[in-house]
Amino acid sequence: MRKGDTVRRPIVPTKWRKLALPAAALTLVLTSCANSSLPQDALDPQGPFSRKVHNLAMPVFAIAGVVFVLVEGLLVYAVIRFRRRSDDESPVQVHGNVKAELGWTIAPAVVLAGVGIFTVGTVIDLDRVPKGDDVLAVNVTGHQWWWEYNYPDEHVVTANELHIPTGTDVAITLRSKDVIHSFWPPKLAGKLDVIPNRENHMVINADHAGVYYGQCAEFCGISHANMRLRVVAHTPADFARWVKANAAPPREPSDDDPDAVAGQGLFRAKGCASCHSVKGFAAGAVGPDLTHLQQRKVFAGALFDLNEKNLRRWLRNPPGEKPGSIMPNLNLTEEEITSLIAYLDTLK
Ligand code: CUA
Repeated sequence: MRKGDTVRRPIVPTKWRKLALPAAALTLVLTSCANSSLPQDALDPQGPFSRKVHNLAMPVFAIAGVVFVLVEGLLVYAVIRFRRRSDDESPVQVHGNVKAELGWTIAPAVVLAGVGIFTVGTVIDLDRVPKGDDVLAVNVTGHQWWWEYNYPDEHVVTANELHIPTGTDVAITLRSKDVIHSFWPPKLAGKLDVIPNRENHMVINADHAGVYYGQCAEFCGISHANMRLRVVAHTPADFARWVKANAAPPREPSDDDPDAVAGQGLFRAKGCASCHSVKGFAAGAVGPDLTHLQQRKVFAGALFDLNEKNLRRWLRNPPGEKPGSIMPNLNLTEEEITSLIAYLDTLK
């Protein structure tokens, strides 16, 4: 070796390189283990609008797969076939080939035009806002970090759980109170951004009754991951019952329940009433409407199941349970929490 020569070492040690292929194969096998009933599976459409997206995405994916195999295959073939075979000779140098160049210009243009026609058609189709008596209108507002659902014709306001009837077009208007969010119930629709000072429109329709999980899909601050959502689809008859229960004012706590009466007093005294609405009693507009809290299964951005234990933990220190929560720690005593929960229990 001459002076000044450096020893070239491979960037990846040889013993690691030997593991690359088995590792890739293992990854492929493991990632194919997903079962078919994942709650946020975007490849499992459960309504006509998500099916439209699916019916577009699958053929496009197939075309992309064929193109990938073809291009990579040709690349590998060319690398091997035209490689340098010894240190003394250069591979054959080729300049220009009209046929090949025409081919790889025209073929992708045709493929992209085909994909484009179907894509634009689907986008226009999904952008249409349905109208008519059989359409349910819902105003959805994103807040840091929870969802508000307002049914203007039904006079119902709720949070985190979007209740809908099956087989019905639900025309959603998306607005934001603060920053950009993204509304995404994967089995029912694609993602759509929720932008301040702008209205976006989405239509969903669920084939079957059930609970469909979703998630805010645009980073919106420290509790973005805690901004979950659920769409609860009922049969039309069950949905009518749900509307009836949620449109009426809640019953006042009765004198037989002194804890609840005390809790209602605390609800005002501690300032809860200036942030939360309870129809006929409080009109706060910062946090979720609590008029029929007990009609829901979850609270705090659909992060927690609604039960006494979780409510107690929440009321002790909301920002400790959901980082960044606008609801502050009110330093409530355990007795005050017991009374407040007794009052919240009456909001049925
Ligand atoms: Cu809202 Cu992320």
